[in-house]
This record gives sequence, structure tokens and C-alpha cells, in this order.
Amino acid sequence: MKKIAQGAEAKIFLADSKIIKDRFKKDYRIEEIDTRLRKSRTKRESKIFDKLASINFPSPRLIRTDKKEKIEMEFIEGPKVRDILEEKDYKKLSEEIGKKLAILHNNNIIHGDLTTSNMILNKEIYFIDFGLSYASHKIEDKAVDLHLLKQALESKHYKIWEDCFNSAIEAYKKESEQSDEILNRLETVEGRGRYKGKKKRAKQ
Ligand SMILES: Nc1ncnc2c1ncn2[C@@H]1O[C@H](COP(=O)(O)OP(=O)(O)O)[C@@H](O)[C@H]1O
Ligand SMILES: [Mg+2]
Repeated sequence: MKKIAQGAEAKIFLADSKIIKDRFKKDYRIEEIDTRLRKSRTKRESKIFDKLASINFPSPRLIRTDKKEKIEMEFIEGPKVRDILEEKDYKKLSEEIGKKLAILHNNNIIHGDLTTSNMILNKEIYFIDFGLSYASHKIEDKAVDLHLLKQALESKHYKIWEDCFNSAIEAYKKESEQSDEILNRLETVEGRGRYKGKKKRAKQ
């Protein structure tokens, strides 16, 4: 078993083409709270796996979970989209991302952490890391998900982010069943962001 990544929440191990995501114990948290948090996040992520499999979405399949802290899933081979987006046909890849996000949203799945580190380019783009995802049919939640994608593109791919986001939105529009409402709401969500920004600046 080889450790291939460690974030704030989990250690990721690779063992014979399986990934083990282990939400390890955090000593700085009160034990009861820590156990509860790790358990609820592991359960939440596990639940989404069933839904993703049922719509045949390009994401890892669940192998097994202890429903407490460990999730064993399929290993998706390939580079993170974060590391290759600039060098490849980024408009085309962004269209693929937009289309896939619309498919998730049409199925009322909110990803919750749409960064290009959570996407792997295999034969097609796979979405991973559903640790913050949840089921929701709300327009607001879908708009916020899109907004997070935009912010992620802006911060990690600042030279090309506008082309990327526009391409993603175009593809999203074609695939989404509620694109008008969601994109209208996105403007509102971003208006709130700007307003907050202005207020902050005014205070300084
Ligand atoms: N199923 C998977 N297949 C391939 N790589 C994975 C898989 N799951 C996680 N990884 C790798 O481990 C990293 C961290 O995993 P992730 O689920 O995103 O956890 P975190 O919450 O720490 O971001 C990913 O960016 C990716 O490189
Ligand atoms: Mg991640």
C-alpha cells in the first residue's frame, strides 16, 4: 500500500489499482466530535457513489466502506486536469466539464468542490472527491456549484480561465434542463459576492 496524497481530511492510499480514502483521526479535535464528523463525511460520500453508479457517471465506483472512516474505491488512472489543462485543448476539455456538471445537476447531485484537482483525465474526464457533495434540486445550490467552478478556474488557471469558463457554460447550457434559471441565479450569487467585496473595501 502506497500513500499517494494527504489532504486536511484524508489520507489516500493506492493498493492494487484500488484507492483507499482514510479519514484519519485528528488529535486536535475533541474525540467524540472527531468520530462523528469523520463518520458523517464518510457516509455522505458513500451514499453519493450509489447515485453516480446508477447514472453511469464517469467517477470512481465504490468497492467497499466501513461506514466510519474508510472508503475503498476504483483507481482512476491519469493526470489531474489541473496539471494538463493549459497544454491541451482547454476549450474542449472545459466543454466536457460543463456538460458533465449539467448531467450531475440534472440528477440533483451537487459536487461541492469543483476544482480541477478533483478531475482526472482518463479516456474522458472523471470527477472525483465527492466528500462535500450532496443531493439537492435547488437552483441556488446548482448556481453556487457553478460559481465554485468559476473561482477554481480563476485561481488555478488565471491565464485561460475566461475561455474555459465560457466554454463550460456553453456546454452546460446545452445539457442542463434548467439552464436559464440556474444561470440567472449565478448572476445573483456573483452580485452578492461583488457587494461583499465592495463592503470589505469600503471598510479599509
Ligand atoms: N479514485 C481515485 N483515483 C485516482 N486518484 C485519486 C482517487 N481518489 C483520490 N485520488 C488522488 O488523491 C488526491 C486527493 O484525494 P481527494 O479525494 O481529492 O481528497 P481530498 O479531500 O484530500 O482533496 C486527488 O487529488 C487525486 O490525486
Ligand atoms: Mg480533492
